[in-house]
Amino acid sequence: MELKEKVREKYGEAALRVTTGGSTCCGSAPSSGGSCDPITSNLYDSSETSQIPKEAFLASLGCGNPTALAKLNPGESVLDLGSGGGIDVLLSAKRVGPTGKAYGLDMTDEMLALARENQRKAGVENVEFLKGEIEHIPLPDNSVDVIISNCVINLSADKDRVLREALRVLKPGGRFAVSDVVVRGVVPAEVRRSMELWVGCIAGALEDTSSEEALAQFQTNFFGNHRVCRCALPHLRARERAHIVVIGSVAGLIAVPFQGMYSAAKFALEGYCEALRMELRGSSVRIAIVEPGDFATGFTAARQETIGSGQGSAYRATFEAALAVIKKDETGGADPVLVSRVVKRIIETDRPALRHPVGAFLQTAVARAKPFLPAAAFETLIADHYKCK
Ligand SMILES: C[S@@+](CC[C@H](N)C(=O)[O-])C[C@H]1O[C@@H](n2cnc3c(N)ncnc32)[C@H](O)[C@@H]1O
Repeated sequence: MELKEKVREKYGEAALRVTTGGSTCCGSAPSSGGSCDPITSNLYDSSETSQIPKEAFLASLGCGNPTALAKLNPGESVLDLGSGGGIDVLLSAKRVGPTGKAYGLDMTDEMLALARENQRKAGVENVEFLKGEIEHIPLPDNSVDVIISNCVINLSADKDRVLREALRVLKPGGRFAVSDVVVRGVVPAEVRRSMELWVGCIAGALEDTSSEEALAQFQTNFFGNHRVCRCALPHLRARERAHIVVIGSVAGLIAVPFQGMYSAAKFALEGYCEALRMELRGSSVRIAIVEPGDFATGFTAARQETIGSGQGSAYRATFEAALAVIKKDETGGADPVLVSRVVKRIIETDRPALRHPVGAFLQTAVARAKPFLPAAAFETLIADHYKCK
């Protein structure tokens, strides 16, 4: 059976269990709170639960509270992708008021019937439940102010398409607030390690770095950006004004020894942005790259070392010395809020510059000075800083 059919069958059964007085729990009896899963229970506070019929909360299958993530203003339109029993649609409808509208989109007939029954019990008028798939949203371009979704996008086999569709129907300046899961169940240690490599930054000598580790760095630091750009650009080009702000790194301007693969991926991102900017000349899309220096973030604790960089490595001693400098620079680094301020400034500027180094004065000054310094002098400066013999 195709994945989508399995999903439809499972949620059809879940809806019927609620309609016939059961719970949405799969297999087990519900806890006294009506929910069987510690992750999915108590997601809504009492000010919300008092507004909506009990049945709507019993039908909740979400993993978060997306309406708590988004500011909803009176008169706005909201679309819930995979609305299930309709809880988030009904809560949104209350918040946008009678001049606004909340749409729920779901592909499962039984869920739509349950949601419409919950709407009737709640006595809410400004709601419409639509039958359809989140990969093919049955609404026109630029038609909603806010998209929410609660634990649904993970179920789609074509997440790129879902995001493209969401961007298509969102009005310019629209908001997207999603609660979802990324990983479920127990992840084997090996898989977990490879996933951590995806999100983290791998340190180690280039010679000690395997192709898999290099690929993982590029997946996060380069191809992730490319995938998002490819999804978003067709929609952004259709707008009067749009910005793409890429988060690069000062390591994409100054190669960092023993974080060489990370630097290489960020250098590639610099080239990507420079070329994309030229390709987008004459369009309404502006592209800028922010290059943060060292900031005090969770990045330092999350860093992985390449598998080959252990005690047997010819580089061990120099690697340890360089890593100590890297960690010291990071933990003493600037407040990451500076980066968000730069992003805000870029978005508010009609024609931003391409490059935006941000961080400690010395780091940004060195990055800016690089093109004007003799290459050998620059290399000595950086190598000495990182204690490369
Ligand atoms: C985990 S439930 C979440 C329901 C609801 N958002 C909530 O918080 O209770 C998933 C819902 O998404 C719907 N769904 C799953 N895949 C879908 C798709 N590709 N298109 C439309 N609806 C989908 C299912 O029918 C089901 O109602």
